Amino acid sequence: IDELLAEGVSGKRVLVRADLNVPLDGTTITDDGRIRAVLPTVKALAGAGARVVVASHLGRPKGAPDPAFSLAPAAARLGELLGADVAFATDTVGESARATVSGLGDGDVAVLENLRFNAGETSKDDAERGAFADQLASLADLYVGDGFGAVHRKHASVYDLPARLPHAAGYLVAAEVAVLRKLTEDVKRPYVVVLGGAKVSDKLAVIDSLLGKADRLLIGGGMAYTFLKAQGHEVGTSLLQEDQVPAVREYLERAGKNGVELVLPVDVVAAPEFPDLKTKAPAEHGTVDADAIPADREGLDIGPKTRELYASRIADAGTVFWNGPLGVFEHPDFAGGTRSIAQALVDSTAFTVVGGGDSAAAVRTLGFDENAFGHISTGGGASLEYLEGKTLPGLAALED
Ligand code: 3PG
Repeated sequence: IDELLAEGVSGKRVLVRADLNVPLDGTTITDDGRIRAVLPTVKALAGAGARVVVASHLGRPKGAPDPAFSLAPAAARLGELLGADVAFATDTVGESARATVSGLGDGDVAVLENLRFNAGETSKDDAERGAFADQLASLADLYVGDGFGAVHRKHASVYDLPARLPHAAGYLVAAEVAVLRKLTEDVKRPYVVVLGGAKVSDKLAVIDSLLGKADRLLIGGGMAYTFLKAQGHEVGTSLLQEDQVPAVREYLERAGKNGVELVLPVDVVAAPEFPDLKTKAPAEHGTVDADAIPADREGLDIGPKTRELYASRIADAGTVFWNGPLGVFEHPDFAGGTRSIAQALVDSTAFTVVGGGDSAAAVRTLGFDENAFGHISTGGGASLEYLEGKTLPGLAALED
């Protein structure tokens, strides 16, 4: 982007592909980290006199307009953070978008409606995606890729559009890649990876690749129960991906062979039923050993002994990468595990990276100071796929 700015962007229409996919409660943004993350790029462009057109997805609408997924709240928040009026187009490439963009003066900012209201954005068909990218390209002279959270998606605005316009990486994408490169090329050991989240199937590829790179893997969240099952334990009514048990069993064996310490919960906080996340009403719960989860109980967080164990495995780390909540942190009765891992990262002298929309939102909503971490990535899937060593379409498109 600095090169683009040096060449001069005044009067040019610059489409910034951002990731404004923020968590919403109705129309209230519960964590605006992703909007704040794109501010340096938007401010630099607007300050240099560009006509800035911000485009993003939000959620997973089905390729047609759906008010529940409107970017209007994000546009309003962007305006507040910029301290300037931000125009909002009520469609993405239609009449409203064209009128909004042509109404921009130098240094003005607009946000287009959700890219995924158009089937072409996420289409698997190259021609359909290309046709939508053509429409987007007609709204801009230059392209800046700054939606790090979406660079792993081969979508029209991420992959096809930069091929149609002079392009550059924004500040956020550059900063994210610089940090993740450190983890893949020049990692300070011991390299400890904490993985949580609901589904083990989302994490299989990254676990596979980390078994050759990390020194320790600490497992929590819903995915831990598939590991416990693979070790031969019963997990009650906990989340379980039975079909993944053989793959997980193979990982447990490979970890042993590779000298990777794969650490599983020794105790869990379990409940007779899933808590109400809306009312957050107190839920009946108790701590049980991980190898003795009663048949009618569901594990919803790592227990106190596990928190201590994991903190001790983090304390002497050189680098820590953490992705995924360790429990149902949205409910106060099951947030202790996630909070304790965040605290262990804050307390350690390691270079700490929090990867992922969910974990990043978790540390902020649990009240941690984001400056206490080495880096908080705005990309969940994107940072995991980067660590796997995959080619990310949105980065490849910018490099070429
Ligand atoms: C994310 O939240 O990880 C990014 O915004 C990408 O969203 P997606 O998984 O719906 O493509």
